[in-house]
Amino acid sequence: MRIVLGVGGGIAAYKVASLLRLFTEAGHDVTVIPTEASTRFIGTATWEALSGNPVSNSVFDDVHLVNHVRLGHEADLVVVAPATADLLAKAATGQAGDLLTNTLLMAHGPVLFAPAMHTEMWQHAATRANVETLRSRGAAVLEPASGRLTGADSGPGRLPEPQVIFEAAMALVQGQSDYQLPLAGRIVTISAGGTREPLDPVRFLGNRSSGKQGVALAVAARNAGATVRLLAAHMDVPPPAGVEVVRVETALQLRAAALDAAARSDVVIMSAAVADFRPAEVSDTKIKKRDDTADPVISLVRNPDILQELVEQRNSGPAGSGQLIVGFAAETGDSQGDVLAYAEAKLRRKGCDLLVVNHVGTDKVFGQDSNSVVILSRSGSEPQEASGTKTEVSEAIIGRISFELNHVSPRA
Ligand SMILES: Cc1cc2nc3c(=O)[nH]c(=O)nc-3n(C[C@H](O)[C@H](O)[C@H](O)COP(=O)(O)O)c2cc1C
Repeated sequence: MRIVLGVGGGIAAYKVASLLRLFTEAGHDVTVIPTEASTRFIGTATWEALSGNPVSNSVFDDVHLVNHVRLGHEADLVVVAPATADLLAKAATGQAGDLLTNTLLMAHGPVLFAPAMHTEMWQHAATRANVETLRSRGAAVLEPASGRLTGADSGPGRLPEPQVIFEAAMALVQGQSDYQLPLAGRIVTISAGGTREPLDPVRFLGNRSSGKQGVALAVAARNAGATVRLLAAHMDVPPPAGVEVVRVETALQLRAAALDAAARSDVVIMSAAVADFRPAEVSDTKIKKRDDTADPVISLVRNPDILQELVEQRNSGPAGSGQLIVGFAAETGDSQGDVLAYAEAKLRRKGCDLLVVNHVGTDKVFGQDSNSVVILSRSGSEPQEASGTKTEVSEAIIGRISFELNHVSPRA
């Protein structure tokens, strides 16, 4: 496929190098057209080297090739990223002062804008009107992500992640003209990894959670267009790019972080392995091994039930019934009942909207790259099975969450 990749003059231009890579690695022939302003952020040498094609932003280069007409005409897809406020205005008013704007006027195939700018610029009536105009003419304009902007401030206006733009572009080419990613504009909080409950400064009670499933969920939610906040307890894997990370150690720290983040979230996914109990007393100094004392006994106290508190906070707060809460149950069956029976009882008891049930044993789930789950829903729909790599399972879970958010509402 022939793709024209227009690059606007914003800080986020650097992220577009990764987008270009995604296109070329998928086998597409990409011509990059950086605007004059964008070359103050990323030079043309980067685009030439990564695309393997000549790069210009002038209608007066290689005039014999009539690039100002040809490029738009021949392109199967035009993507503009970052689409600055200025570029959106130029495109909406049909200006043709450089090679990119000429190409946009000549485009025969689908056109996708991925905006990035400060929140005030994005929310300004002029930009809103320009976006509406472009959409009414059939262009796809992605919603920007929320999060940290150029300075210390944050809000909607971040360039969506390269994978998100890539997926939207491919969907657009497949004819989904009004395509928006299923979690576009949504804020998703995900807890991952295992908590550690200190006994003394060097010892703790922990668990076998690697964080792989939580990280895969964060990637899937990010790729579905969400702004993701990852509450990372102890993990064996690094957190992914493009998500905000809050580090926690103990169940109590995770509780505080989760209740705080949930107040600003559309979806909360509690996939961390949280200790049910913690040592009643934590020694300030290392507990010594001495031959003349009795064997030590560790007394445990119950940790708070974070999932239940999240449901209570949701039901009593302004987020009301709009928020979707997803629990994870790592169950083993026993003589009293099977895994699903325990999980269904847990779903009813906790009042969360979805419960993802793992069947665990020492060789199952923890630290592995694959998983097999059943997703139970409070809305009464059939349990859904998902198995495969943790990435595939995460995509199924995020798909189910998107479906519940966009098609099943409201939640009581
Ligand atoms: C450091 C810096 C960062 C900028 N970031 C953005 C941005 O993210 N979005 C935007 O719309 N404009 C941004 N601007 C302003 C644009 O560069 C300016 O409007 C320019 O004319 C846009 O050119 P273009 O139409 O080639 O994109 C930024 C300017 C500077 C100096």
